[in-house]
Amino acid sequence: MSKIFLIGYMGSGKSTVGKKLAAKIGYEFIDLDKFIEAEYQQTIPQIFASKGEKEFRAMEHNTLKKVIEKSNVVVACGGGTPCYYNNMELMNNNGTTVYLKMSVDALVSRLSNAKDKRPLIENKTPEELHAFVNRQLEKREDTYHQAQYIVKGKDLDIDELALFVKEQIGV
Ligand code: S3P
Repeated sequence: MSKIFLIGYMGSGKSTVGKKLAAKIGYEFIDLDKFIEAEYQQTIPQIFASKGEKEFRAMEHNTLKKVIEKSNVVVACGGGTPCYYNNMELMNNNGTTVYLKMSVDALVSRLSNAKDKRPLIENKTPEELHAFVNRQLEKREDTYHQAQYIVKGKDLDIDELALFVKEQIGV
C-alpha cells in the first residue's frame, strides 16, 4: 500500500532519483509530469501555452489524486506540485514524502542547460534564472519543509536512500 513522493525544486533530481529508487525497492515509478502529458495528450509546455499555469495546476491536482489511488509507487512530483491546492497534505496523508534539498547555486547550474522543457524558466538569462530560482525557492521552502524526510539532493547516495526508505516503510 505504500507510496513515496519525491518533492523538490525543478532540477533537484526527482526523476533520476525516483527511477533508481523504485528499481531498488521493486516499486513502480511514476513521473507526475509525464503522467499528466499522457492523461491530457499534451506536453507540459503545450499545456502552459494553450491553457495557462492556473489550468495546469488544476490538471496536476487531478492527476495527483489519480496517482494516489495506486499502490507501491515512487512518484517524482513536479517542482510546484506540493505548493498548490492541498497537494502537500494529500501526499503526507497518503504516503511518505521526501524532499530532495539542493542549494540555489546547484539548482541554477543544473537548470541552465535544461530550460527548454520548463515553461517557467525557458526564456531567462543566467542572471534572471538565478534571481528567479532564489525568489521562488524562498517562497516554496515552507511547503517543501513539510515533507516527512529531508535529504541532501547533491551527491545523494541512492543505495543509502533506498535502505532508509525500506526501513521506514518496511519493504
Ligand atoms: C514546475 C516544475 C516542472 C513542471 C512544470 C512546473 C514548477 O516539473 O511540473 O514545468 O512549478 O516548478 P520539474 O520539477 O520536474 O521540472
